[in-house]
Amino acid sequence: MSKKYNVKEVAEVFKIPANKLRFYEKKGLMNPERGENNYRYYYEEDFIRIQTILMYRALNLPVENIKDLLDNADKDNVLDHFYKQWEAVNNNIHRMRDVKNSLEQIMDSIYEGNNDGFVAGIIKSSQELNHIQETRDNWKDKWNFDSWAKRYDKDVNKDIGKLKLYKNYDELLDSVYLKAVEGMGQADSILDIGVGTGNLSNRFLEKGYSVTGVDQSREMMNVAKNKYPKLKLRLGEFLKLPFDNDSFDCIVTTYAFHHLNDEEKKLGIKEMMRVLKEDGSIVIGDMMFEDEDSRREIFDRYTKEQIEEIEDEYYSNISVLREAFQKYGKIVDVQRIDELIYMVCVH
Ligand SMILES: C[S@@+](CC[C@H](N)C(=O)[O-])C[C@H]1O[C@@H](n2cnc3c(N)ncnc32)[C@H](O)[C@@H]1O
Repeated sequence: MSKKYNVKEVAEVFKIPANKLRFYEKKGLMNPERGENNYRYYYEEDFIRIQTILMYRALNLPVENIKDLLDNADKDNVLDHFYKQWEAVNNNIHRMRDVKNSLEQIMDSIYEGNNDGFVAGIIKSSQELNHIQETRDNWKDKWNFDSWAKRYDKDVNKDIGKLKLYKNYDELLDSVYLKAVEGMGQADSILDIGVGTGNLSNRFLEKGYSVTGVDQSREMMNVAKNKYPKLKLRLGEFLKLPFDNDSFDCIVTTYAFHHLNDEEKKLGIKEMMRVLKEDGSIVIGDMMFEDEDSRREIFDRYTKEQIEEIEDEYYSNISVLREAFQKYGKIVDVQRIDELIYMVCVH
């Protein structure tokens, strides 16, 4: 049996208050031996457990999750907890960034405004802040991509659906790839948003480019990882990209952007512009209409079922996208692949 330590000595070793050890015990994380006078005793073997608990606390994991991790340390459970924690941290970073931007706006308006006017500026900025945070937090995967992941590649091959949206799937992915690498150096970094099962990303990977895929569906990412073990993947959403400002030379995305409604698209564009380096480019391959007139013209020719399939998602009007990107000083070129599928290149 190794050396025995009392609470005070253990607290001393780990430089933590003794109360913390009692708290972890109360929460079921530890179960030290009780000796004379009911004093607690710890052995060196217990130190590994304490070290593990402190490491998880340093990563901000809630005590309840730590208990579950210690009770069930299989790979999937550990990964699950880390994913949850990582998501919480990413959400916080976004929230704090929004708050910081808002505070800066308010301070600028106080400096620039007169004594009577600045309250209105504060109200406006805080309303905008609420709106952004609500939009970010309210996006939900109402299509359940997790449940589609294992069948996705087969369904694409069979081109399921009334609209035959996948008949030119490979042509679109090839076109997006070729457009993205035009004038690109091997060292440039590419982000594929809504990476799905990795078919677009793999085109870059195969040619030695540095590509990162991001997706909100863990199951889609699992399929991608099984197909392409070397592909770098991150869990994340369009509206909360888990990357720093100015991280990528090029952003690509296929068959994904239409899962954002118009309001969400504006924020999605803002997010893409945030993580894109200055002078970077964006290539979007997706279902779209030229404008409201051509949407109406197409609806007039389509069956009720086809229209329902379109209306289950949010196809963009290219005219709206063009305007949104122009606000960031970008130029938008458009190439039509077929009736509903377009490639939009932003540079
Ligand atoms: C139809 S699949 C397309 C997959 C792949 N890009 C391709 O072309 O085959 C759409 C993918 O976008 C992802 N996605 C949808 N909305 C998203 C969002 N808001 N943020 C991140 N990923 C999203 C889905 O999880 C899914 O993997």
